[in-house]
Amino acid sequence: MHLGILTGGGDAPGLNAVIRAVVVRGLVGGHRTTGFLRGWKGVLENQTIELDRESVRDLQRQGGTILLSSRTNPRKVEGGLEKVRDNLEKAGIECLVAVGGEDTLGVARTLSGMGVSVLGVPKTIDNDLSATDYTFGFDSAINFVMEALDKLHTTARSHERIMVVEVMGRHAGWMTLHGGIAGGAHVILIPEVEFDTDEVCDFLKKRFEAGRRYAIVAVAEGAMDPGIARHVMHSSEKDAYGHVQLGTGIGIAEALAGEIKDRTGLETRHVILGHLQRGGPPTAFDRVLGTMLGVKVVEMAEQGLSGKMAALRGGEVVPVDLEEAVGKLKTVPAQRYDQARLFFD
Ligand code: F6P
Repeated sequence: MHLGILTGGGDAPGLNAVIRAVVVRGLVGGHRTTGFLRGWKGVLENQTIELDRESVRDLQRQGGTILLSSRTNPRKVEGGLEKVRDNLEKAGIECLVAVGGEDTLGVARTLSGMGVSVLGVPKTIDNDLSATDYTFGFDSAINFVMEALDKLHTTARSHERIMVVEVMGRHAGWMTLHGGIAGGAHVILIPEVEFDTDEVCDFLKKRFEAGRRYAIVAVAEGAMDPGIARHVMHSSEKDAYGHVQLGTGIGIAEALAGEIKDRTGLETRHVILGHLQRGGPPTAFDRVLGTMLGVKVVEMAEQGLSGKMAALRGGEVVPVDLEEAVGKLKTVPAQRYDQARLFFD
């Protein structure tokens, strides 16, 4: 069989493990794999490389993606979806593996409805994809957040300061929640639950009065107090999938740190963890998950499946409908946030 593979959207540690697994499992099954460069852009513009055993050797240890990535959306290109279908056919691709998040997999689902043979592999550091327990990239990212918070504790404590730390996550607070719990944040603020800056300030003042004279506030980039929204200057630019680009003007951490300083008089600094959260080598968990997903998706192709995604469910990788994966974002349930709040003190 002739397989195609592409990686779309923001990169995530573990992408290379998936590529390696698809190629190696493919070779064992007697299949050839062509890589499309820069996500859907590579299919639209016929940018390809042939992937052999040597080109993927040891790749599970490397961060990023050797196939490069972009947020190109074929729906925004005139006749884009048809062009993708035709180019895949011309290249002789019998099954395309699209590795990506909600946006990339949304295009895959549409293509499958147009008769294109396509399978998905879920990826995002945000962990906000439905139908899978975890996405690869998330574990690497939250370990980075945890280590950053570990370091910030010692400097914040030495200077009796408040550190407001901005964590990625525009619509879902998984990274802030898990990174914040593991790294001992004293306050965790997520997009799913609007917060009140006055309440945050009261909490911080009480903490200082009680003798715990420093604090770490972990805030997701999409978290908001409508009362201070006017200070948060998001870029007016949107990507091809319509997402406002956050953190390019004054982000929520900077705005909140300024408010906390003004309202409490306590010394406050902000830190934006930014793209460091996506960089570097994957954790063991992400290397193994990426490998399991890559192997499974080739097995699914051999079974003639299409319109499905390989997903982690209770420790097993199983096929699920792409429809189920992209229908609704997986956000943090209220009870998980309430659990984290037990430790705000
Ligand atoms: O979806 C992954 C992600 O890293 C988000 O957490 C973040 O909001 C966004 O991508 C940043 O995108 P870009 O790298 O295009 O600025």
